[in-house]
Amino acid sequence: MSNVPELEARLESRSARAGVVGLGYAGLPLAVEVARAGFEVIGIDIDPDRAGQINRGRSYMPDVDPGLLLEAVSSGRLRATADYESIGACDAVSICVPTPLRKTRDPDLTHVLEAVRSLQTHLRPGMLVVLESTTYPGTTDEVVLPILEESGLRAGEDFFLCYSPERVDPGNSRYGTRNIPKVIGGVTSNCLRMGKLYYGQVMDTVVPVSSTLAAEAAKLLENTFRMVNVGLANETAVLCDRLGIDVWEVIEAAGTKPFGFMPFYPGPGLGGHCIPVDPHFLAWKSKQAGFEPRLIQLASEINGGMPRYIVGRIQSALNDRGKPVRGSRIHLVGVAYKRNVADTRESPALDIAALLARMGAEVAYSDPFVSRLKAGSLELDRSGLFETVGESDIAVILTDHDGVDYARLLGAASLVLDTRNATRGVAAPNLLRL
Ligand SMILES: NC(=O)c1ccc[n+]([C@@H]2O[C@H](COP(=O)([O-])OP(=O)(O)OC[C@H]3O[C@@H](n4cnc5c(N)ncnc54)[C@H](O)[C@@H]3O)[C@@H](O)[C@H]2O)c1
Repeated sequence: MSNVPELEARLESRSARAGVVGLGYAGLPLAVEVARAGFEVIGIDIDPDRAGQINRGRSYMPDVDPGLLLEAVSSGRLRATADYESIGACDAVSICVPTPLRKTRDPDLTHVLEAVRSLQTHLRPGMLVVLESTTYPGTTDEVVLPILEESGLRAGEDFFLCYSPERVDPGNSRYGTRNIPKVIGGVTSNCLRMGKLYYGQVMDTVVPVSSTLAAEAAKLLENTFRMVNVGLANETAVLCDRLGIDVWEVIEAAGTKPFGFMPFYPGPGLGGHCIPVDPHFLAWKSKQAGFEPRLIQLASEINGGMPRYIVGRIQSALNDRGKPVRGSRIHLVGVAYKRNVADTRESPALDIAALLARMGAEVAYSDPFVSRLKAGSLELDRSGLFETVGESDIAVILTDHDGVDYARLLGAASLVLDTRNATRGVAAPNLLRL
């Protein structure tokens, strides 16, 4: 119990040394924010190139302000390394390593296990450990805790263990690490007390919950909510097309209801590292307990079917002009998984490009954020939109990045299929919408 007051004092005075393990989309913004709050931060990433870039004051994450990163590094508050040795010097360690799914949609905890095992050899009394990676309920208590306790140290007495989900939204200029409320659950009440105190120094609002399980499940509910509602929007889009109704107009009209409705929008499919993946953690854990969650499965199927649906719409649009897909020049406008980001992980554009190429189309793409696209065996360099789109048989808007002149696109392309309503309010003979 004697470790509580000592760590408390170090956290309160911000003299505690912080560690952030995994310096990607989630970890790097956190490391910079903790450094901005006045803590000395050691970032640990197995990728020495990332560590090197940070030490040179370079931000490789679009959401991390290069000026803030440089300031944190040059003031000596942030440094990075690929070597776990320095973790022993940290008082509070946040783990932000990837948590992918296997092909079978089972959670792949390889990175978490590696990080926790590396940390365990340096665990010492008075240390606070916070898992931030998105994962299934039970990971902290059932997987991380036993490994750390193999050290002989006890959670809540010798060291402190919490789960706090990372909730960053890449590309969101309004909400970032500091002003997104931080949900946190502890293995014991002392653990929660230390976790709350630490993040309370860095974030505007900390939301304590009664267990690590509740904190893990809260994050998964948020992303499942989004996945299921996008599934509903996608199903409505397909249904409206059959009925000859403009789905965008329907959503806009429904969205005027001041209560009980929140607009979600259809598109070419779900993408990114989180929304298509995270609900399956919840489904997997639920199935272990003998309950088959049906909404997650259904929404996943509907969303997963959208790339093929869009290819079908492209095929029928070309067919109406007497053209087969084979040999047609198809220009994909935007390939990142969402607006104003460079990330193509799980992007529906990958499936669409690969399907079209397999059908014999000549696929080209433009995207201000993505200079090279790899979709299966297809590898493409970016084309200049207005240099090439005039020669295409159809241009398909897959990502509605800002800064693309969609009105000019309608003038330049012979046929446009807009899957994102980037051309909102415009009617043109060469324009089709999802
Ligand atoms: N990307 C997002 O928008 C987002 C949002 C909320 C939550 N998350 C969650 O945050 C976690 C991290 O995701 P991300 O998008 O930041 O991943 P990322 O791939 O961008 O970054 C992860 C980093 O961890 C490093 N790493 C891997 N194994 C390591 C190890 N054993 N030790 C040290 N470093 C290691 C990698 O080299 C990489 O730099 C995931 O669980 C993800 O679901 C991500």
